[in-house]
Amino acid sequence: MVDFQKSKTKENLARAFAAECQEGARYQFMSKTAMQQQYVYMSALIRTLAHNEMAHAKQFFEKITEHGGKDVQNIEICAGYPFRSGELIELLELESKNEHSSAESIYPEFADIAKEEGYDDVAKLFNMVADVEKSHEKILIQLHDELKNGTLYKCCEGEGCFKCDECGTIYTGKSAPKECPLCHQPQGYYRINITMNRVK
Ligand SMILES: [Fe+2]
Ligand SMILES: [Fe+2]
Repeated sequence: MVDFQKSKTKENLARAFAAECQEGARYQFMSKTAMQQQYVYMSALIRTLAHNEMAHAKQFFEKITEHGGKDVQNIEICAGYPFRSGELIELLELESKNEHSSAESIYPEFADIAKEEGYDDVAKLFNMVADVEKSHEKILIQLHDELKNGTLYKCCEGEGCFKCDECGTIYTGKSAPKECPLCHQPQGYYRINITMNRVK
């Protein structure tokens, strides 16, 4: 096993921790943007993503202290992080791409390095988090595509059931009502059905 202090795995864990914290922050910003535009249910979905990222950050942080001791001194890292602004629709697409690269290249690579260095537990963690990032990518792609196509609250065929997340009203129709007939909240309160099969 490579000495943790000299390992690449230590640096990769610190990089991943920084990335997760920043992603968590960006999702919180995005969740607020969605809320301002009255996409209330979407805002809650994005807030859940932020929560997930902080849970990943915690696991990476704890791996550093578990292997490096309770007081690990400053870890120098060299990494790039995105700082972008834009419309909600653009941010959904950009974040889906970030999730894609974490899931498909960065974390699998970090997992391989951790395994080579003898840190099987860290390798397993990177692989498990990669799987979650893949599911995040699917959610973001669906939200992006449906927002773009105007189908967030439309049925693809015939009529469907739409549920208001505020008052629980089940509405049957070709699309969710512009305003909930019971609680009068805007359409954005209606649930979005996440299908999770948009990317393989
Ligand atoms: Fe994450
Ligand atoms: Fe994610």
